[in-house]
Amino acid sequence: MKLNEDVGGNLEIVEHNNRKKADKFAEYITGETLRRYVAEKVTHYCGKYPTVFDGACGSGQLEQFISPNEFIGVDIQPEAVEAARYNYPSAEIYCQSFFQFSPNIKMQCTVMNPPFSIKFKDLPKEDKQAIQASYPWKKSGVVDDIFILKGLEHCGRYGFFIAFAGIAYRNTERKLRELIGNQLAELHLVENAFEDTVISVLFLVIDKRKQSDLYERVLYDCKTKTEKGCDTAKINPEKWDVFTPEIEREEIDIAALEAEIAKQEARRRRLEDELDEFVRITFKQ
Ligand SMILES: C[S@@+](CC[C@H](N)C(=O)[O-])C[C@H]1O[C@@H](n2cnc3c(N)ncnc32)[C@H](O)[C@@H]1O
Repeated sequence: MKLNEDVGGNLEIVEHNNRKKADKFAEYITGETLRRYVAEKVTHYCGKYPTVFDGACGSGQLEQFISPNEFIGVDIQPEAVEAARYNYPSAEIYCQSFFQFSPNIKMQCTVMNPPFSIKFKDLPKEDKQAIQASYPWKKSGVVDDIFILKGLEHCGRYGFFIAFAGIAYRNTERKLRELIGNQLAELHLVENAFEDTVISVLFLVIDKRKQSDLYERVLYDCKTKTEKGCDTAKINPEKWDVFTPEIEREEIDIAALEAEIAKQEARRRRLEDELDEFVRITFKQ
C-alpha cells in the first residue's frame, strides 16, 4: 500500500494536530525520528511491507515509514480519521473508541502509540463495560495497559508499542507485565522523542512466540539519533528495568591529592608568617 499519491512521493503526510481538541484524547504526535526508529524495528522483525494494525492511529503518523502492505486503523477523533483516510486511501480506518472495537482482525503486527494516562473512571460507560468484559480485573487507574493488551489481540506475532515509562514499574501495571511475561523482546528508553513534551518514553517490542526470559534493553536519544547503550537482562514482572549507563567514576590519585594539601598548608603558614611580621612592624611604629 502506498501513501496517497499527492503526498506519497516525498513521504509527507497530512496531520490532524489540534492541541486543544487533542489534549482531551492525549494525542501526542510521534516525532519523525521516533517514527523512523519504530519503522526500522518493524522491518527488522516483520520484513518490508508488513500488514499493520493500529488501534490509536491518529493520522497514521506511526506508519509513515513502514509502508504497510495492508493497514487497519482505529481512532476516536473524526478529524484524525479523515486525515488517515486521505493519507492511506486503501486502508480501513474505523472512527470509534478502540475499547469497543470488536472485529476479529489480525494483522502481521500491531504498531501503536496509545494515549498516555487516560483514566478508567473518566471513560464513557460503554468503554468501561467493554473493558471489563475482556479484562474483568480492570476497575480503576489508567488504561495504558488495556490499550497494549487489546492491541496485542490484533497481531499475529509482533507488537510494537510506545508507552509511558510508568508501565515498567508501577504496581498498577503489574498485571500487564505478568501477562506479557517472556514475550517482552526489547525495551527501549527513548529520550527527546516528542515535540510537545520532554519526557522520555518506552518503546516495547513484544514477540508472542518468544520463550526465553531475557530481553534486550536499549537507551536511544532522538535528538542526537544515537544509541547510548544496550545490554540484556532477565525479565522480572515486578519491574522492567531500563538500560542505565554506568556513571563514570573519576579516579582519585591519593598521593597527588596529599601533595596538593601539603602545598596549600605550606602556603597558609607562609601567609600567616607574613601577617605576623606585618603586625609586629606596624605595632613597633
Ligand atoms: C499519542 S496519539 C498517537 C497518534 C499517532 N498514532 C502518532 O503516533 O502520532 C494517541 C491517539 O489515540 C487516540 N485515542 C484516544 N482515545 C482513544 C480511544 N478510546 N480509542 C481510539 N483512539 C483513541 C487519539 O485521538 C490520538 O490520535
